[in-house]
Amino acid sequence: MCSTSLSVPAVILLSKILFKLKHNAIVLTLQKVLVVLFLFHSFFCVFPQSFNVRKDIRPQIIAHRGDSFQMPENTIPAFELAIEKDVDFVETDLVLTKDNVFVCFHDLTLASGTDIRSHPEFAHLRVLLKNITYDDQVFTIEDDWLISDFTLKELKDLRVITHNQNQLKYSSFSIPTFDEFMETVRRESLKRFLNGNKNPIGIMPELKHPSYFNALANTSNFMEKLFIKNLVKYGYSINITEENNLKSGCEYELKSNVLPCNPLVVQCWEQGTIVYFYESAKSLRLLAVLWVNNVEFLTWKGMARLEGKTEFVGLSTEFLLDGAETAVENAEPKVVYDREKIKELGGFIPKEEIVSYVERLGMKVAVYTVYPETEREEIEYFIGMGVKAIFVEGLERAAKIRDEYFTKWNNKLK
Ligand SMILES: *[C@@H]1O[C@H](CO)[C@@H](O)[C@H](O)[C@H]1NC(C)=O
Ligand SMILES: *[C@@H]1O[C@H](CO)[C@@H](O)[C@H](O)[C@H]1NC(C)=O
Ligand SMILES: *[C@@H]1O[C@H](CO)[C@@H](O)[C@H](O)[C@H]1NC(C)=O
Repeated sequence: MCSTSLSVPAVILLSKILFKLKHNAIVLTLQKVLVVLFLFHSFFCVFPQSFNVRKDIRPQIIAHRGDSFQMPENTIPAFELAIEKDVDFVETDLVLTKDNVFVCFHDLTLASGTDIRSHPEFAHLRVLLKNITYDDQVFTIEDDWLISDFTLKELKDLRVITHNQNQLKYSSFSIPTFDEFMETVRRESLKRFLNGNKNPIGIMPELKHPSYFNALANTSNFMEKLFIKNLVKYGYSINITEENNLKSGCEYELKSNVLPCNPLVVQCWEQGTIVYFYESAKSLRLLAVLWVNNVEFLTWKGMARLEGKTEFVGLSTEFLLDGAETAVENAEPKVVYDREKIKELGGFIPKEEIVSYVERLGMKVAVYTVYPETEREEIEYFIGMGVKAIFVEGLERAAKIRDEYFTKWNNKLK
């Protein structure tokens, strides 16, 4: 029954397909059978021998764009709810407005995530057809609006919209600034602190497309430097060690309580930004996000290039469930890459070895993103592989599944 841990990806795939078809009664029955089978499988096989589990290291739970399952992603209510649910880190995406203010938003364009189409006063900023370049790739913008053409004041007239059917009632939120994000985090951290929870909530901002914003400003590392200025404003001392960081500059006083700064990990998909921070902001904790456009880093020699430069490597669930090569082959839009180069770099790292290899290089794997329909199977599988941080949606259960896993583990040791 439990001879192969490789059956887990198959179960997860099947659950996902069934989840999408869930209104059918036969499917519901099938799903129940699958759950029973999986629980049976878990009972015997949750600790596959081939994976080297460290019982003392619980992966950190990261709230993907706040509590984006309950609330529109990257809004203040989403951040507030995530903090209430006691996750380890709250994640947000950051882009820059025309007047260079950091705002929490995922896209460079506004049509999909805001009500811009019902604002005729911004018709003059509409982009009919334009190519923009970032991360060495060309992207075509068609009938849309670029966030970088809007000042903060203009952006604040828009409302965030969501495509999640359960969230349609929330239509009045604006795009928050990074300052508003930080104020929320501090206010909620104080509440936690006063309630006796001494673990400060961590934050994980992601700089989106620095090469695009740096080119707009015609200044190298413009976005990175501006971001560091923002962090310094919040008391983070960027150039000293984390330990000193907590003791010295990084404290703030609220109602006579002195709280330490919130743990901070900065993420980016552009590896140039990771290297820049590594070289010029030594004490920043970093997470280098890899996706199919970073194919070279998914090889033995490519991954080794990140050694020592970043604390975390962000890998997508596909890399761990299907393997990097399959994920790259299946990518939409199609990824063109140099097969000879991949061979020279030692080939793609197989899915069974990628987490332990990253660990051997002294880094940790953060996996993105686990959704509620497959959370138990995936969270247990990833912990078994040695993953140290998990981006999740549907926060209620993720930490519980993780903690139950370790309770089972400890009982097994007794
Ligand atoms: C955008 O780039 C594509 C090739 O990547 C090119 O075919 C197209 O003409 C360009 N469009 C514009 C508006 O520059
Ligand atoms: C960008 O900066 C370079 C060097 O500072 C300058 O030569 C160039 O004219 C600038 N380009 C634009 C579009 O401002
Ligand atoms: C950190 O210190 C180094 C060396 O003193 C300096 O070159 C660098 O600019 C500093 N970084 C920041 C972000 O202040």
